[in-house]
Amino acid sequence: MIGQLSWLSSGQIVPRERAPATNSSVRLFVAIVPPETVLDELEAAVGPLRTATPKLRWTTSESWHLTLAFLGEVEEPVIPELGTRLERAAHRHPPQPLAIAGAGAFPHPARAQILWAGVRAESSALAALAASVAAGARRAGAPPPDEGRRYRPHITLARSRDQANVTQLIGALGSFSSAQWSATRIALINSRLGGSPRYTELASWPLAH
Ligand code: 2AM
Repeated sequence: MIGQLSWLSSGQIVPRERAPATNSSVRLFVAIVPPETVLDELEAAVGPLRTATPKLRWTTSESWHLTLAFLGEVEEPVIPELGTRLERAAHRHPPQPLAIAGAGAFPHPARAQILWAGVRAESSALAALAASVAAGARRAGAPPPDEGRRYRPHITLARSRDQANVTQLIGALGSFSSAQWSATRIALINSRLGGSPRYTELASWPLAH
């Protein structure tokens, strides 16, 4: 439970109770959170589509993030070392110039389960950051289940339990492009599953300047 964790202003996370008799785990991922102004731009483009296509399970702008690595369930005693490793990984990479642009779908626009907004980046730099984050997590004892798979940066806009044809939605977002920003931090985020996932930022670390 996240209630059993506390975190220091330095970004170091410590379990409140050390060495619990029974370890509990938390569901974690590492992400870049776009600034509010960029989220507002995306919301202006997505809002009308959300209203027009209510059968998709749309995400809200407060939840939008760019995942660098999904870690899944992580045992709480691993978390302090995870923080140390993520801080080190962040220090090895420069701030990332990013913009949100265009859209696509997984696994395919005609039978989609995820509709996403695209991310314009210096792609090898962003992929290198994602790889460092994954390697740091692995060394801390929190290996990402998807490590080694091709990194496909995206922001999930909507999910569908059944396969949905989102070709028109992708077309409608095709010309969308946000302002460019410089991402200067990575964040460790807790995901609690429920009707819709709820995200809580636990700590963040600066990319090297
Ligand atoms: P998604 O938005 O495309 O589902 C929290 O779940 C974040 O981690 C989401 O951005 C999610 O991507 C991403 N993620 C990557 N791999 C995942 C997995 N195997 N299970 C759940 N989330 C995953």
